[in-house]
Amino acid sequence: MAESKKSATLTIDGQSYELPIYSPTAGPDVLDIRKLYAQSGVFTYDPGFTSTAACDSTITFIDGGKGELLHRGYPIDQLASKSHYLEVCYLLLYGELPSATELEIFEATITRHTMIHEQMHNFFRGFRRDAHPMAIMVGAVGAMAAFYHDSTDINDPHQREIASHRLIAKVPTIAAMAYKYSIGQPFVYPRNDLDYAANFLHMCFAVPAEEYVVDPILARAMDRIFTLHADHEQNASTSTVRLASSSGANPFACIAAGIACLWGPAHGGANQACLEMLKEIGTPDRIPEFIARAKDKDDPFRLMGFGHRVYKNFDPRATVMKQSADEVLDLLGVENNPILQVAKELEQAALNDPYFADKKLFPNVDFYSGIILEAMGFPTSMFTPVFALSRTVGWISQWKEQLADPQMKIGRPRQLYLGTAMRDYVDIENR
Ligand code: CMC
Repeated sequence: MAESKKSATLTIDGQSYELPIYSPTAGPDVLDIRKLYAQSGVFTYDPGFTSTAACDSTITFIDGGKGELLHRGYPIDQLASKSHYLEVCYLLLYGELPSATELEIFEATITRHTMIHEQMHNFFRGFRRDAHPMAIMVGAVGAMAAFYHDSTDINDPHQREIASHRLIAKVPTIAAMAYKYSIGQPFVYPRNDLDYAANFLHMCFAVPAEEYVVDPILARAMDRIFTLHADHEQNASTSTVRLASSSGANPFACIAAGIACLWGPAHGGANQACLEMLKEIGTPDRIPEFIARAKDKDDPFRLMGFGHRVYKNFDPRATVMKQSADEVLDLLGVENNPILQVAKELEQAALNDPYFADKKLFPNVDFYSGIILEAMGFPTSMFTPVFALSRTVGWISQWKEQLADPQMKIGRPRQLYLGTAMRDYVDIENR
């Protein structure tokens, strides 16, 4: 915990309270209100946590004003261009970049955990064929607690470690199986000779009837998508994982809770919603109509893939993603992709519109990712599962950090009650 070198004074009804202020390594100072209720009988009110730090953390830092995202201090653009996903996983989990030997051991460990318990296959078959893969993922990841009892004791550091490795290794297998199930194709087992991203593409697109060779450039693009989504400090799904974990729930239940939260269109579901929106727009001439709808307070429509709670300049992940979209479409020989054209013109139109400029709304990570994923062959329903499998390491790192924190308490927000005051029960014949 940071040391308090300054404080603020809060006065309520003539009574003053000293509130310690902590200065972080980077980012705004934080006012400590933990004792406020005990001392003053007053709660603070912050729906949506717009001004509340719910924990301290050493994993990820975002400077929304500068458009900066750091994992353990390293900028995301450097990690996306120079590193690769499993190395970033190691960095997030353990705090430092690995040595060559450490990386080799880590990669071998993850690779050897990618298969799932054979009996879990039956579990998949219980779902309807048209089930959304995210629905299957919430169920299957939660069900891991029933298959891997020997890594559910959160008080045992060794079990926590194994659970972490199992989740990072097996969630892609589960995502790929959810996809295969939805299209009626046989499950494809993981291959240990492929790297993490290539293995995922192989599990999604190979069939037993013929050989499927993973294009290394596509595997690199896939790996970059994983890297760009790996962690994002205390976002909604990560906070959900932390809240679930604060009760002592097992890791598989916590990650299933994170997946459930990620599914919403304001969060990870935005990549699916964004591509659907771009297709609905269809041609650049319809862009003004959709911009007008996004600005209309009486219309619930929002530009999907635009805006962010923290980024008020640009989302550095979107910059890399846009570049990647061009590269992947080039590689696949997709010339003049009409959806990419709509995306680029929509981005320009929004950036030049005072509504979006004044509200500091910029394209976020979800704006271009769907275009790449679709070009790779993924249906829109798989976009959020790809986000979920990439974010698993972030959730796990934050979960581990929370469990190691001596200050950990069960999360229990308070409320501003505006309901009816106490009244007497009225018998049914008198209502
Ligand atoms: N289109 C039109 N108007 C918008 C948009 C948008 N995409 N985003 C925000 N606004 C407006 C909003 O109406 C509000 O206007 P006013 O102040 O006049 O009421 C203002 O901008 C602030 O919006 P907010 O909803 O108070 O901001 P928030 O921080 O609570 O929400 C957000 C952030 C990401 C949920 C929101 O920008 C949004 O719904 N974006 C579209 C969905 C999306 O792309 N989500 C992915 C986020 S990045 C990846 C991830 O987290 O998973």
